[in-house]
Amino acid sequence: MGSRIVATGRALPRTLITNHDLERRMETSDEWIRTRTGIGQRYTLCSGESLVDIAADASRIALERAGLKASDLEAIIVGTVSSDFGFPSFACQLQHRLGISSIPSFDVAAACSGFVYALSVADSTMRAGDWSRVLVVGTDALSTMVDWNDRATAVLFGDGAGAVVMVSEPGARGVLGSILRSSGEYWELLSVRNRGIQNTIDAEVKSSGDDAIKMKGPELFKIAVKSMEEVTRKVAERAGVPLAEIALVVPHQANLRIINAVAQRLGLGEDKVFTNVDRYGNTSAASVPIALDEALETRRIRDNDLVLLNACGGGLTWGANLVRW
Ligand code: ACO
Repeated sequence: MGSRIVATGRALPRTLITNHDLERRMETSDEWIRTRTGIGQRYTLCSGESLVDIAADASRIALERAGLKASDLEAIIVGTVSSDFGFPSFACQLQHRLGISSIPSFDVAAACSGFVYALSVADSTMRAGDWSRVLVVGTDALSTMVDWNDRATAVLFGDGAGAVVMVSEPGARGVLGSILRSSGEYWELLSVRNRGIQNTIDAEVKSSGDDAIKMKGPELFKIAVKSMEEVTRKVAERAGVPLAEIALVVPHQANLRIINAVAQRLGLGEDKVFTNVDRYGNTSAASVPIALDEALETRRIRDNDLVLLNACGGGLTWGANLVRW
């Protein structure tokens, strides 16, 4: 018995921040941000908004499209590093918001790779026969963790949530395999102290720069390209699938230059790689499921297509999932 993604959904905060808005707040330019990252705008969580509500909206859309009720779920797995609380987990808060109880609900903390990790955990547990209907969510609000005076990080991140409903199913369609990796030795390339969501773009009192995301961008860039190439090749090889047979890669949307460099190394043309980083920025664990939802909406994915998801992020963590749609 395998696991198949039967529906997806996405939801975003209300506030849209363009590069031109950022030009008015810091020493940067639309031109710099676009050429270095490919980002044109992002949605950011503002005071009074709840990321759990946004994740619940994405989940309800996915459930409705799957023709299921929240009470049909047997587990909830959330890839996130953005819970307001050390505990309870984000997943427990989401479960409560969806009005259900008793089922196991837990977080997977792998930063930008959170969704790819969570999908792999869901697939393995479903294959083992533990659960047959699972909600997997990727959600983050890294814009609330940046120092808004640090232009090197403040321009990169947006917030949001993407959700998928997975169902146990026999047959050739579904998750074919996943590869997960991490290297703690590189933890200092991207880190933030654990403090919950505090520093929304509209907050009057900003927390100190010491608490904010610390990033060594150029080093991270190089490792991200190599590592995403490595897991993409590996997951396809393990499944016995030539890269040329992959219909669409849906990568983590951190930076268009990273995405293009990985595609070039893999010999994949632009038509085989989905991008939406221009409209959302880097939404961390939300980026792959938001992109997947848009790829389906715009009919870039058809039944039986081979779809590859990959990501790299703080930890460092990286990974890939191969799915027969
Ligand atoms: N606006 C204008 N100038 C800027 C900005 C900005 N927002 N940010 C930095 N600069 C300046 C720097 O100060 C520097 O100026 P200097 O030459 O006078 O010292 C210059 O631009 C070049 O800075 P670099 O950091 O070398 O620029 P680079 O081309 O490496 O691009 C970037 C920086 C976009 C962060 C890139 O390194 C990157 O994308 N790295 C990956 C980071 C990432 O994606 N992190 C997200 C999480 S990890 C993941 O998801 C894979």
